[in-house]
Amino acid sequence: MKRRTLILGSVAGALGLGAVLRPRDRGQDHSDYFRQLSAALDAVGQSKPTLVVDRQLLDANLETLLSHINGRFDYRIVVKSLPSVPLLESVMQASGSNRLMLFHQPFINKVAERFPQADILLGKPMPAAAAHNFYRQFPGGEFEPQRQLHWLVDTAKRVAQYDELARQINQPVQVCIEIDVGLHRGGVSSDEQLIGMLELIQQSPQLEFCGLMGYEPHIVKMPVGDPIAYRDEAVALYQHYVDVARNYLGDDWPQDVILNCGGSPTYQLYDQGEFPFNELSAGSCLVKPTDFDMPTLADHKPAAYIATPVLKTSETLKIPGIDLGGLQSAWDPNRARTFFTYGGYWKAKPESPQGLLNNSLYGRSTNQEMLNGSRSITLGTDDWVFLRPTQSEFVFLQFGDIAVYDNGAIAEYWPVFAETTRS
Ligand SMILES: Cc1ncc(COP(=O)(O)O)c(C=O)c1O
Repeated sequence: MKRRTLILGSVAGALGLGAVLRPRDRGQDHSDYFRQLSAALDAVGQSKPTLVVDRQLLDANLETLLSHINGRFDYRIVVKSLPSVPLLESVMQASGSNRLMLFHQPFINKVAERFPQADILLGKPMPAAAAHNFYRQFPGGEFEPQRQLHWLVDTAKRVAQYDELARQINQPVQVCIEIDVGLHRGGVSSDEQLIGMLELIQQSPQLEFCGLMGYEPHIVKMPVGDPIAYRDEAVALYQHYVDVARNYLGDDWPQDVILNCGGSPTYQLYDQGEFPFNELSAGSCLVKPTDFDMPTLADHKPAAYIATPVLKTSETLKIPGIDLGGLQSAWDPNRARTFFTYGGYWKAKPESPQGLLNNSLYGRSTNQEMLNGSRSITLGTDDWVFLRPTQSEFVFLQFGDIAVYDNGAIAEYWPVFAETTRS
């Protein structure tokens, strides 16, 4: 082959390959849903980054959840993933569940005050000092911590600390034991450890054993293998620790024992069959952030978005210094236009208009974030951009009151939990 033919061939090949690899235009203006949501935000004069929850989609997700659980287990609502009193109230009412799982001391005080009927289980072991602060800040009232509050203990040392606390406050303290059913995030991992902790609890004048908690999201997150096989392993371990504790405690096994398991990623794996636990926890699946886009939640719908105004637009992409913006937009039609949004860099992914991209060459900003999009997107200044949170627990707390979108309008605002400055 002649040298010139070879070069021409290579160039043609490269161009052909480039044409195949070159990103296609993924830009699309807001769908009707996001157009209506934009109009609803404008109608109430919203003008800053706002967390929106779609009431109807939230309700539909709860119905989906309840149809799977189908009364076979008690449902425990994961408060960290739904961190707002009215949001919780709505879920508690619609589900008929008073069972809540909490992960943060100031929020335990808040919930005890606002939901005196709540049954609270801790989802992680709290420092005994944090538990002590709960009692210090609890003003009394209808909520009875000695009956309705179940702390989580993971080691013999923590049992001893809670024993000390219970003696100091001179009242019964309920403790639930965390078991490791394969997640390896702490908790009991041997029979001796479990029996040692039960022994200490029994010897304590004020501690009361109330049950076991074993969390198993790893079973749907393993890169290889069958989730059902991992589920069966976790269930077998759970059953084993129930048997060990029951054998040890005999008649002291609590009548209304709490045997907690599950989370959004896994709760649908228990639709059929016999299992050693009696309640399932879930929260995130009711709003479905992007981390929960998984086969086990295929029938749940995203119900929460960050809405933020566009501050500036430009018909090109420019990057300071060696301006690689032109190259970027020449290669990728989805980088033809530039938008700067009010705020940014949240734990969230651009959702609408479709095809918006962050620009890591330009960098991220919590103040004015650059997004790029194709010329198919007609977004202008003051229009809304929507992002989907990757998770709810932290993101929901960053925007002030949640704007509740119901039937085409922002119908109400739900305050989120606030941090207290006191420890
Ligand atoms: C102990 C425990 N149970 C349940 C959950 C499930 O919460 P979600 O349904 O919001 O994923 C979590 C989440 O971190 C957890 O730590």
